[in-house]
Amino acid sequence: MDLPPGPRAPAAWQTIAWMARPGAFLRGVHDRFGDPVTIRTYWTEEPMVLFSGPDAVREVFRLDPAIAPAGQSWEFLRPFAGPHSILLLDGEEHLRERRLLQTPFHGERMRALAPIVAELARRELGAWRGRVIALERMRQLTLEIILRVVFGAHDEQEAAQLRDAVEGTLASVRSMPRMLAMALVQRDLGPRSPWGRFRIAVEHFDALLIDVVARRRAERGGDSVLALLLEQRDEDGNAPTDRHLRDQLVALLVGGHDSSAASLAWAFERLARHPAVHARLRAGDPAYLDAVVKEVLRVRPALTIAPRRLLEPVRIGGRSLPAGIQVAACLWLALRRNDLWPDAAAFRPERWLEGAAPNPMSWIPFGGGVRRCPGHEFAEMEMREVLRAAADLTIRPVRPESERARRSMLVVTPHLGGEVVIV
Ligand code: HEM
Repeated sequence: MDLPPGPRAPAAWQTIAWMARPGAFLRGVHDRFGDPVTIRTYWTEEPMVLFSGPDAVREVFRLDPAIAPAGQSWEFLRPFAGPHSILLLDGEEHLRERRLLQTPFHGERMRALAPIVAELARRELGAWRGRVIALERMRQLTLEIILRVVFGAHDEQEAAQLRDAVEGTLASVRSMPRMLAMALVQRDLGPRSPWGRFRIAVEHFDALLIDVVARRRAERGGDSVLALLLEQRDEDGNAPTDRHLRDQLVALLVGGHDSSAASLAWAFERLARHPAVHARLRAGDPAYLDAVVKEVLRVRPALTIAPRRLLEPVRIGGRSLPAGIQVAACLWLALRRNDLWPDAAAFRPERWLEGAAPNPMSWIPFGGGVRRCPGHEFAEMEMREVLRAAADLTIRPVRPESERARRSMLVVTPHLGGEVVIV
C-alpha cells in the first residue's frame, strides 16, 4: 500500500523544520503535496499521514479507538501522568475516565468558576507596565488559575508551595528531547542523574498533591474542581482513590496549562498588531469578545495535530492506509485553509459575526471525537476573562512585524513569546 506523497528529506530535517517553524513547515508540505500528506519526524517511529479536509478529519475523529488508539502517543508521559491518566487510556476505560473528569467543566458549574478567573486576570494585568513577554506572564497566570480553581488552593502559602513544585517538575517535562530520552532509559543512576532528579521531583510533587487531596477531603464542599472530583462515584458507588485523584489533577495540569498560556500569548501578539480590533473589544460587546477568542484559536492554534496510531488497515478520505502508521487530523491546516476560511491568514474576528457558522470539522482547535478537549469551555471562558481585563490597556508590539510560530514542547507559541509594550 502506497502512502500519500510527502517530503523526501530525512526525519531529522523534518523534525527540525517543524520545531523551528511549524507554520511554514505545515503550509509548505500542504502547498507542495496537497491533502493528505505524509511526513516523517522523530515524534513517532512511524510515518504520519496528515489530513485537513473536513470529511477526512471526521473519519479520523470517528476511528474506533480499538483500531486507532490515541493514548499510546502519550506513553512517554507515563512516569509523570500516572497509570490512571485519561491521557494514556483508550477504549472503555478512557470513556469512563472522561465521564468523571468532564463533569466539573460544564454549564452552571463551569460558569461559577468565572469570577475567580476574572479576579486573577485583573490582578495580573493590573500590574503590567512597560515591556512584557506575554507568554511568561500567561504561564504564571494560567498556573495560578489551575492552582486556585482546579486544586482549590486558598491561601498564598499553599499556592506558593505548589507553584514551586509544579515549575520544577514541568521544567523536565517541557524539555521534550530530555523527556523522551529519560523515558527510554528510565535508569536511576542516582539522585544526580537526569532520571534520578526527575523521579525525586515527581515524588516531592506527588506528596504535595496527595496532601492537597487530603485537605480538600477534610474541608468537605467548596467550589474547586477538585472538590467536585471528590464527589465522583464509579458504577459500584466507590469514591476515587488518592492516587486516582492525583492522576486527574496532573492530566488537567498537563492539558490546561501550556495550551491556554500559548493561546493567550498569541491573543496579545495579535491584539498588539490590530489596534482596531482592540478598540472594538473595549466597547464591551460580549459577542465580539467571543469572536476575538475564536479567531485567536483559529488563526494561531496552540496544538497542531491530533494523532492516532493505526493497529489495523483503514480507509480514510477514500485511501487505503496500512497498519503501523500514524494518522492525524491536522488542526493547524484545517483552521487555516483558504478554501474553508476566506482570507484564512488574516486575523479578522468579524468573520464570526457574519454569515454561516463554520463547518464543525474545520473548526477544530480542541480536536474532536472521543478525545475532544474536555477543558474547551473552561479554556474559552479563561480567554474571555483575560481579554476583558486587557480591554482597557493600550498595547503596542515591540516590533511591527508579526511573530512567527515556534514549537515549545507540545504547543506552538510566538517565537519571541508575544513581546509587547504597555503604553
Ligand atoms: C486554549 C486552550 C486549550 C487548547 C487549544 C486545548 C486543545 C486540546 C486538544 C487539541 C486536545 C487533544 C484532542 C484530540 O486528541 O482529539 C486536548 C485534550 C485535552 N485537554 Fe485541552 N486544550 C486547551 C485547554 C485545556 C484546559 C483548560 C484543560 C483542563 C483544565 C484541558 C484538558 C485537556 C485534557 C485532560 C485532554 C485529554 C483528553 C482525552 O485524552 O480524552 N485542556 N486539548
